[in-house]
Amino acid sequence: MDALKRQAAAKALEHVRDGMQLGLGTGSTAKHFVDLLGEKVAAGMKVVGVPTSEATRIQAEQCRIPLTTLDVIDRLDLTVDGADEVDGALNLIKGGGGALLREKIVAAASDRMIVIADETKWVDALGRFPLPVEVIPFGLAATQRMMAKAFAESGVSGQMVIRKGKDGHVFVTDGGHWIIDAHLGRIADAPRLAGLLNPIPGVVEHGLFIGLATTTVLAGAQGIRVIE
Ligand code: 5RP
Repeated sequence: MDALKRQAAAKALEHVRDGMQLGLGTGSTAKHFVDLLGEKVAAGMKVVGVPTSEATRIQAEQCRIPLTTLDVIDRLDLTVDGADEVDGALNLIKGGGGALLREKIVAAASDRMIVIADETKWVDALGRFPLPVEVIPFGLAATQRMMAKAFAESGVSGQMVIRKGKDGHVFVTDGGHWIIDAHLGRIADAPRLAGLLNPIPGVVEHGLFIGLATTTVLAGAQGIRVIE
Protein backbone atom coordinates (compact mmCIF):
# COMPACT_ATOMS: atom_id res chain seq x y z
CA MET A 1 0.00 0.00 0.00
CA ASP A 2 2.81 2.37 0.84
CA ALA A 3 4.41 1.72 -2.56
CA LEU A 4 1.12 2.63 -4.25
CA LYS A 5 0.93 5.86 -2.26
CA ARG A 6 4.45 6.75 -3.39
CA GLN A 7 3.55 6.02 -7.04
CA ALA A 8 0.57 8.38 -6.81
CA ALA A 9 2.81 11.04 -5.25
CA ALA A 10 5.41 10.61 -8.00
CA LYS A 11 2.73 11.02 -10.68
CA ALA A 12 1.52 14.26 -9.08
CA LEU A 13 5.09 15.53 -8.98
CA GLU A 14 5.08 15.49 -12.80
CA HIS A 15 2.67 18.47 -12.63
CA VAL A 16 5.08 20.59 -10.60
CA ARG A 17 7.02 23.22 -12.53
CA ASP A 18 9.87 25.52 -11.60
CA GLY A 19 8.62 28.67 -9.86
CA MET A 20 5.33 27.20 -8.61
CA GLN A 21 3.69 28.14 -5.32
CA LEU A 22 2.45 24.87 -3.83
CA GLY A 23 0.07 23.72 -1.12
CA LEU A 24 1.60 20.79 0.75
CA GLY A 25 -0.90 18.26 2.08
CA THR A 26 -0.92 16.12 5.20
CA GLY A 27 -1.00 12.36 5.79
CA SER A 28 0.97 9.30 4.78
CA THR A 29 0.43 9.81 1.02
CA ALA A 30 1.18 13.54 1.05
CA LYS A 31 4.30 12.71 3.07
CA HIS A 32 5.67 10.84 0.05
CA PHE A 33 4.97 13.87 -2.14
CA VAL A 34 6.85 16.18 0.22
CA ASP A 35 9.78 13.72 0.29
CA LEU A 36 9.93 13.56 -3.50
CA LEU A 37 9.55 17.32 -3.82
CA GLY A 38 12.44 17.71 -1.39
CA GLU A 39 14.59 15.65 -3.76
CA LYS A 40 13.67 17.98 -6.65
CA VAL A 41 14.47 21.04 -4.54
CA ALA A 42 17.83 19.52 -3.60
CA ALA A 43 18.45 19.06 -7.33
CA GLY A 44 17.79 22.77 -7.98
CA MET A 45 14.05 23.15 -8.55
CA LYS A 46 12.72 26.48 -7.26
CA VAL A 47 9.32 26.22 -5.56
CA VAL A 48 7.74 27.60 -2.44
CA GLY A 49 5.27 25.69 -0.25
CA VAL A 50 2.48 26.37 2.21
CA PRO A 51 2.15 23.41 4.60
CA THR A 52 -1.29 22.24 5.76
CA SER A 53 -0.20 21.09 9.22
CA GLU A 54 2.58 21.41 11.75
CA ALA A 55 3.66 17.86 10.87
CA THR A 56 4.04 18.80 7.19
CA ARG A 57 5.78 22.06 8.10
CA ILE A 58 8.38 20.13 10.11
CA GLN A 59 8.86 17.57 7.34
CA ALA A 60 9.16 20.27 4.64
CA GLU A 61 11.72 22.16 6.71
CA GLN A 62 13.73 18.97 7.11
CA CYS A 63 13.57 18.53 3.31
CA ARG A 64 14.72 22.17 2.93
CA ILE A 65 11.66 23.15 0.90
CA PRO A 66 11.26 26.95 1.13
CA LEU A 67 8.02 27.79 2.92
CA THR A 68 5.70 30.78 3.00
CA THR A 69 2.20 31.59 4.23
CA LEU A 70 -1.07 32.76 2.73
CA ASP A 71 -0.47 36.08 4.50
CA VAL A 72 2.50 36.69 2.22
CA ILE A 73 1.16 35.32 -1.08
CA ASP A 74 -2.47 35.33 -2.19
CA ARG A 75 -2.73 32.38 -4.56
CA LEU A 76 -1.21 28.94 -4.96
CA ASP A 77 -0.70 27.31 -8.34
CA LEU A 78 -1.31 23.79 -7.09
CA THR A 79 -2.06 21.84 -3.92
CA VAL A 80 -1.23 18.15 -3.68
CA ASP A 81 -2.94 16.31 -0.84
CA GLY A 82 -4.31 12.92 0.15
CA ALA A 83 -7.92 12.05 0.98
CA ASP A 84 -9.87 9.52 3.01
CA GLU A 85 -12.48 9.08 0.28
CA VAL A 86 -12.98 10.37 -3.29
CA ASP A 87 -16.20 10.02 -5.31
CA GLY A 88 -16.88 10.24 -9.04
CA ALA A 89 -17.53 13.99 -8.84
CA LEU A 90 -14.12 14.39 -7.15
CA ASN A 91 -15.80 15.37 -3.91
CA LEU A 92 -13.80 14.24 -0.90
CA ILE A 93 -13.86 13.29 2.72
CA LYS A 94 -10.71 14.56 4.40
CA GLY A 95 -9.55 15.01 7.95
CA GLY A 96 -8.60 11.48 8.96
CA GLY A 97 -5.28 12.97 10.00
CA GLY A 98 -6.98 15.90 11.74
CA ALA A 99 -5.66 18.62 9.42
CA LEU A 100 -8.87 19.38 7.53
CA LEU A 101 -9.12 23.07 8.47
CA ARG A 102 -5.73 24.13 7.13
CA GLU A 103 -6.13 21.67 4.25
CA LYS A 104 -9.37 23.33 3.19
CA ILE A 105 -7.99 26.88 3.55
CA VAL A 106 -5.01 25.93 1.40
CA ALA A 107 -7.09 24.01 -1.19
CA ALA A 108 -9.50 26.96 -1.51
CA ALA A 109 -6.55 29.29 -2.21
CA SER A 110 -5.23 27.02 -4.98
CA ASP A 111 -5.87 27.18 -8.70
CA ARG A 112 -5.68 23.38 -8.84
CA MET A 113 -5.83 20.54 -6.33
CA ILE A 114 -4.45 17.11 -7.14
CA VAL A 115 -5.63 14.36 -4.80
CA ILE A 116 -3.22 11.46 -4.45
CA ALA A 117 -4.47 8.15 -3.10
CA ASP A 118 -4.40 4.42 -3.39
CA GLU A 119 -7.42 2.93 -5.13
CA THR A 120 -9.12 1.86 -1.87
CA LYS A 121 -10.09 5.53 -1.37
CA TRP A 122 -12.26 5.57 -4.51
CA VAL A 123 -15.96 5.18 -3.58
CA ASP A 124 -19.41 5.28 -5.23
CA ALA A 125 -20.72 7.54 -2.48
CA LEU A 126 -18.95 9.28 0.38
CA GLY A 127 -19.62 8.30 3.98
CA ARG A 128 -18.25 4.88 4.77
CA PHE A 129 -15.30 6.75 6.29
CA PRO A 130 -16.55 8.67 9.36
CA LEU A 131 -16.94 12.36 8.52
CA PRO A 132 -14.53 14.50 10.57
CA VAL A 133 -16.06 17.75 11.82
CA GLU A 134 -13.79 20.26 13.57
CA VAL A 135 -15.65 21.93 16.44
CA ILE A 136 -15.20 24.45 19.22
CA PRO A 137 -15.35 22.72 22.65
CA PHE A 138 -17.58 25.51 24.04
CA GLY A 139 -21.24 24.55 23.83
CA LEU A 140 -20.40 21.20 22.30
CA ALA A 141 -23.77 19.57 23.08
CA ALA A 142 -25.61 22.45 21.37
CA THR A 143 -23.34 22.10 18.33
CA GLN A 144 -23.98 18.35 18.24
CA ARG A 145 -27.76 18.92 18.34
CA MET A 146 -27.48 21.27 15.35
CA MET A 147 -25.27 18.77 13.56
CA ALA A 148 -27.82 16.00 14.16
CA LYS A 149 -30.50 18.26 12.65
CA ALA A 150 -28.30 18.91 9.59
CA PHE A 151 -27.70 15.17 9.23
CA ALA A 152 -31.44 14.42 9.44
CA GLU A 153 -32.28 17.12 6.88
CA SER A 154 -29.85 15.59 4.41
CA GLY A 155 -31.12 12.06 5.03
CA VAL A 156 -28.30 10.62 7.13
CA SER A 157 -27.82 9.80 10.79
CA GLY A 158 -25.26 8.13 12.98
CA GLN A 159 -23.09 8.18 16.03
CA MET A 160 -20.90 11.20 16.75
CA VAL A 161 -17.63 10.30 18.46
CA ILE A 162 -15.23 12.85 19.94
CA ARG A 163 -11.82 11.92 18.53
CA LYS A 164 -9.17 10.77 21.01
CA GLY A 165 -5.43 10.71 20.41
CA LYS A 166 -3.14 7.71 20.87
CA ASP A 167 -2.57 8.87 24.45
CA GLY A 168 -6.30 8.45 25.20
CA HIS A 169 -6.84 12.20 25.64
CA VAL A 170 -9.10 14.29 23.43
CA PHE A 171 -7.35 14.98 20.12
CA VAL A 172 -6.61 18.69 19.70
CA THR A 173 -6.10 20.06 16.18
CA ASP A 174 -3.33 22.45 15.08
CA GLY A 175 -5.96 25.20 15.49
CA GLY A 176 -6.73 24.18 19.10
CA HIS A 177 -10.12 22.66 18.30
CA TRP A 178 -11.68 19.21 18.74
CA ILE A 179 -12.87 16.75 16.10
CA ILE A 180 -16.14 14.85 16.04
CA ASP A 181 -16.09 11.80 13.78
CA ALA A 182 -19.63 11.30 12.47
CA HIS A 183 -20.36 7.69 11.50
CA LEU A 184 -23.01 8.35 8.87
CA GLY A 185 -22.75 5.65 6.25
CA ARG A 186 -23.67 6.50 2.66
CA ILE A 187 -24.11 10.26 2.14
CA ALA A 188 -26.44 10.48 -0.86
CA ASP A 189 -26.11 14.27 -1.26
CA ALA A 190 -22.72 15.44 0.04
CA PRO A 191 -23.00 19.03 -1.31
CA ARG A 192 -26.33 19.44 0.50
CA LEU A 193 -24.90 18.13 3.78
CA ALA A 194 -21.88 20.44 3.42
CA GLY A 195 -24.23 23.39 2.92
CA LEU A 196 -26.20 22.47 6.06
CA LEU A 197 -23.08 22.10 8.23
CA ASN A 198 -21.41 25.34 7.05
CA PRO A 199 -23.58 27.82 9.02
CA ILE A 200 -23.51 25.99 12.39
CA PRO A 201 -21.69 28.40 14.74
CA GLY A 202 -19.73 25.78 16.71
CA VAL A 203 -18.57 23.99 13.55
CA VAL A 204 -15.20 25.43 12.55
CA GLU A 205 -14.99 23.31 9.40
CA HIS A 206 -15.95 19.87 8.15
CA GLY A 207 -14.20 17.26 6.07
CA LEU A 208 -16.47 17.42 3.02
CA PHE A 209 -14.38 19.01 0.25
CA ILE A 210 -16.91 19.88 -2.43
CA GLY A 211 -15.72 21.13 -5.82
CA LEU A 212 -12.14 21.73 -4.66
CA ALA A 213 -10.27 18.81 -6.22
CA THR A 214 -9.52 19.18 -9.93
CA THR A 215 -7.62 15.91 -10.48
CA THR A 216 -7.34 12.59 -8.68
CA VAL A 217 -4.37 10.28 -9.10
CA LEU A 218 -5.28 6.77 -7.98
CA ALA A 219 -2.61 4.10 -7.66
CA GLY A 220 -3.66 0.47 -7.77
CA ALA A 221 -2.31 -2.97 -8.60
CA GLN A 222 -3.27 -2.39 -12.27
CA GLY A 223 -1.35 0.89 -12.44
CA ILE A 224 -2.08 4.59 -12.14
CA ARG A 225 -5.45 6.14 -13.03
CA VAL A 226 -5.78 9.90 -13.48
CA ILE A 227 -9.33 11.21 -13.16
CA GLU A 228 -10.20 14.82 -14.05
C1 5RP B 1 -5.43 14.59 6.86
C2 5RP B 1 -6.06 14.10 5.62
C3 5RP B 1 -5.34 13.08 4.83
O1 5RP B 1 -5.10 13.58 3.57
C4 5RP B 1 -6.18 11.85 4.76
O2 5RP B 1 -6.46 11.42 6.08
C5 5RP B 1 -5.48 10.74 3.98
O3 5RP B 1 -4.35 10.32 4.68
P1 5RP B 1 -3.46 9.12 4.19
O4 5RP B 1 -2.76 9.58 2.97
O5 5RP B 1 -2.52 8.86 5.35
O6 5RP B 1 -4.37 7.95 3.93
O7 5RP B 1 -7.12 14.52 5.24
O8 5RP B 1 -6.25 15.48 7.55
